[in-house]
Amino acid sequence: MARIGLRDITKVFPGGAVALDGVDLDIADGELMVLIGPSGCGKSTLLRIIAGLETPTSGEVHLDGMDAGHLSPKERQVAMVFQNFALYPHMRAGENIAFPLRISGMDPAAQGERIAESAGALGVRELLNRWPHQLSGGQRQRVAMGRALVRQPRLFLLDEPLSNLDSGLRAELRAEISGMVRSLGVTTVYVTHDQTEALTLADRIAVLSQGVLQDVGTAGRVYDKPATMFVAAFLGTPRITLLEAFVYVYLNSHIALRIGEQQLYLPWSDPRARELAHYHGEAIVVGVRAEAVAPIAEPRRGQSLRGSIRHLEHHGHESLAFIDIGATEIDVDPDGVRPRAAAAAARRHARASESLFNRFLDKITRTERGPEVAQAENGHAGRHHLRPAELTVRLPPRVRAASGENITIGVRLDMLHFFERRGGRIDVGWR
Ligand SMILES: Nc1ncnc2c1ncn2[C@@H]1O[C@H](COP(=O)(O)OP(=O)(O)OP(=O)(O)O)[C@@H](O)[C@H]1O
Ligand SMILES: [Mg+2]
Repeated sequence: MARIGLRDITKVFPGGAVALDGVDLDIADGELMVLIGPSGCGKSTLLRIIAGLETPTSGEVHLDGMDAGHLSPKERQVAMVFQNFALYPHMRAGENIAFPLRISGMDPAAQGERIAESAGALGVRELLNRWPHQLSGGQRQRVAMGRALVRQPRLFLLDEPLSNLDSGLRAELRAEISGMVRSLGVTTVYVTHDQTEALTLADRIAVLSQGVLQDVGTAGRVYDKPATMFVAAFLGTPRITLLEAFVYVYLNSHIALRIGEQQLYLPWSDPRARELAHYHGEAIVVGVRAEAVAPIAEPRRGQSLRGSIRHLEHHGHESLAFIDIGATEIDVDPDGVRPRAAAAAARRHARASESLFNRFLDKITRTERGPEVAQAENGHAGRHHLRPAELTVRLPPRVRAASGENITIGVRLDMLHFFERRGGRIDVGWR
């Protein structure tokens, strides 16, 4: 078992493709870390660098605190299950599992015991005499994992091990993998682009976009407090709605978030209000997940939005309504966000506007929209990729509602996410 430390890992492939850009990540002994991100973001490359199959262009891989740069995969004692796993077709399932032990020269009696143990944990004991072509995809995958685990590695690296399987089998094997690696206590890095897999399996999740680490934390933290807009949009179904909002400070009462022609009022008692006040007169991004909104009968001042149903989707256990609230949706920058740069920018912003804010506190008790605000709004228009927003609201299954119908939506202000336009989170004491 081992601790993994990744220090400022950058990988530039010949030809100039930047697969990884300054990745820092610590994985604890026995931890199950899930690495997630869209196709091409560098997940497999990072796994191969941990395994020692690829050398980073710069940066260091530490195992148990020691620089492992000079160690071969064998010396690192890693077992890896690849994206396109392959069994040796001329060996039976049992021989496939036994193979790593045989080449290590282990005593045959001890081998038998280990194989039985591995095969038992993976539920393939009765399949050991079959040839690979006589196994289903899921069974082959289990045998491949058995072959990886039989050597009792220090590190277990899995690269999308379930991507070739149907969804029922995925769910079943997911539960088994989780149980197995936890009972073995082996440090595991599990790569996937499937958020359900990530949220259900992980001790912690690391989210990558275009080679840049966006966020690392428990599934709960990363979902509830995503560090960047990219993470907020990547995790969660239905997808979060990202709305353009303008911030106005009313010192006596609240902070107004103007969304299209409507307003939400964030009371000063909300711990995030002071951070948001720095953005007076500026556009920010408000992230609204479906669980933060629900249809209500009567509008509530500053706590609800009106809209009309654009379309409905029936999902069996629920219906989703997509509501036009006359607001603008913000697209996540496809280049992703550099969390450190975004956080630094937010801090600079806070410092720069601190004095401004204090001056403003002295003079004004209530602000109206001034000319500088209108200018800021005009300045923002057209700079981003803008389109009409659709707020997603959960409704009971098979609800009868017509598109075009008006609807009032209550908003849980405490469940809103705030991001500055570059994508970094605006929150209390955030980094
Ligand atoms: N040997 C290589 N030579 C050049 N570029 C490469 C090489 N291997 C990977 N890349 C590039 O590096 C980037 C990251 O690739 P990687 O395979 O790590 O992505 P991934 O996150 O595993 O994607 P997927 O989910 O599709 O498997 C991609 O842009 C890819 O094209
Ligand atoms: Mg890959």
